[in-house]
Amino acid sequence: MRIVITAGGTREYIDPVRFMSNASSGRMGCALARAALNAGHKVTLITAPTAQKPPSKAKIVNVETAAQMFEAVKKHFSRCDCLMMAAAVADYTPVRKAAHKIKKAEGRLVITLKPTKDILQWASRHKKEGQILVGFALESENLRRNAAEKLKAKNLDMIVANNPSAIGRDRSAVHVKVRGGPWMEYHPASKGIIARRLIRQISHLVSGIS
Ligand code: CTP
Repeated sequence: MRIVITAGGTREYIDPVRFMSNASSGRMGCALARAALNAGHKVTLITAPTAQKPPSKAKIVNVETAAQMFEAVKKHFSRCDCLMMAAAVADYTPVRKAAHKIKKAEGRLVITLKPTKDILQWASRHKKEGQILVGFALESENLRRNAAEKLKAKNLDMIVANNPSAIGRDRSAVHVKVRGGPWMEYHPASKGIIARRLIRQISHLVSGIS
């Protein structure tokens, strides 16, 4: 399969040197890329800045913002068999990016944000027969309920849900649901092991094994 994987937390710039981001380390996206390559797939890794060393056999596309990630996914989506959105994409971005570094002034600084494009939502509207969409959900409450809603709302084939305690860590415990199937719990393990299981699960999806 040709698999497109996104990784890392996007950066939304306020001015040329300041941005809003999140605590995503990019570990899960890189681990997925490695696992997919080891399983014989072709991988395009679209990654926001991370401290991870991406696997050298993947095609790497470096991006920073949610808008750039969206453009990169749009460019590579039509030729892929599977899109795995492991990136923590910002839901909001500043309405304006100041052209120059914002100077300190008296009183409060108010930054107005506007929603970003939902990349998975776009992909689900443009997907062709047989293309597989995998979403990730980070939920601090009602994990399975909220993640199942995302699976439905974004018309995904599979969702991987975890709790914010996994962010930035090497280990994770995830809950996985394939559309129409029951929840599966992957016990705590390194993100490398979890990634291998997820890639195997996708192969089962393709071959019709649940
Ligand atoms: N995602 C996306 N485009 C966005 C935001 C998120 O494609 N602009 C993807 C993420 O990469 C992830 C999935 O959607 O695979 C769920 O992301 P999450 O932030 O948990 O969900 P949201 O739909 O943004 O909902 P909320 O933040 O309110 O929980």
